[in-house]
Amino acid sequence: MIAANVDDYRDGARRRLPRFLFDYIDGASYTEHTARNNVRDFEKVALRQRVLRDVSEIDLSTALFGAKMAMPLALAPVGLAGMFARRGEVQASRAARAAGVPFCLSTVSGCSLEEVGRGLESPFWFQLYMMKDRGFMRELLVRASEAGCTALLFTVDLPVPGARYRDVRSRLTGAGMAARLQRGQQILSHPSWAWDVGVRGRPHGLGNVAAKLEPRSTIGDFWQWVGANFDASVTWKDLDWIRQTWHRPLVIKGILDLEDAQAAARLGADGIVVSNHGGRQLDGVPSAIRALPPIADAVGDALTVLMDGGIRSGLDIVRALALGARGVLIGRAWAYALGAAGGRGVAGMLEILRQEMQVAMALTGHRHISELSPAALVHPAAPFG
Ligand code: GLV
Repeated sequence: MIAANVDDYRDGARRRLPRFLFDYIDGASYTEHTARNNVRDFEKVALRQRVLRDVSEIDLSTALFGAKMAMPLALAPVGLAGMFARRGEVQASRAARAAGVPFCLSTVSGCSLEEVGRGLESPFWFQLYMMKDRGFMRELLVRASEAGCTALLFTVDLPVPGARYRDVRSRLTGAGMAARLQRGQQILSHPSWAWDVGVRGRPHGLGNVAAKLEPRSTIGDFWQWVGANFDASVTWKDLDWIRQTWHRPLVIKGILDLEDAQAAARLGADGIVVSNHGGRQLDGVPSAIRALPPIADAVGDALTVLMDGGIRSGLDIVRALALGARGVLIGRAWAYALGAAGGRGVAGMLEILRQEMQVAMALTGHRHISELSPAALVHPAAPFG
């Protein structure tokens, strides 16, 4: 497909995927107010155009958690991505490797740690949701180490799932026969997906947690299963528990509050991701880019601060770095690209982001991403107006 930007991949995904999958990616919680603000607040951040500064050589490379990367971004963990294209996580992780950026596998992925690790033969990251069965959790962490994961992103903003109206309306959440028939209708009206993923993309389970699923469970059981198995009793003390099994970098994902960021720094986390889960959890909280600057100011010297939520272009990545992030995660952008055009879509989308970042660096007069600071913005003290 021909795509000039991330929105084109979004359109492609809307055409190609059954509605219950497109809405799962595109949707957010409640009125989707926070998800919209994640994007809109980026648009408010005015970049400062600078000229005549020799921008003939631009270097986007960096290193995060000991790994060199071609650009300051990683593919965020996205649940169910194995359904967006055939063996979706394998395809996306290969595209990430080819572009020189890390791929982070979700706990609730289609492909397992082992399948991704086998197809990749290079380090990747793993995202952890804490489940009630700690014995199973320990096994999962060991599996992640053995599969070659070099960093763990522990997601802390989903002790319980936020309500996502679109998932109800699309019948993603619906275990009964009526919901299954309606999903079936959506699949039949998307024959190329039905053939690529529905038929040739089997098995369709959740690879990492297959042992914890009921034998005949369907995608309609997903949220109910999350509600029943995720552990809402987790606290900061559980970081010690994770550390007993996981000895590589530990990143806390889903921090939006300064006091929580300070606690993560105090307890020795290697990094945090400033995030509201793409607006998919508590609607009404501030956008991630608005939450970033005070947090980066307070703890940026103690740990590595990443952010995600609302990034739709390379310009947005430059804005996030100017506001204090060392790197970003992109979620929907790669999910759209995978849904629209498989691994080639993810590769194309990453190349678009790279070029956009390169141009934004040149036109703001920066040669290396380490030079980015609030001075790259027109209103550094009040970037959102
Ligand atoms: C899962 O992490 C989701 O946000 O859907």
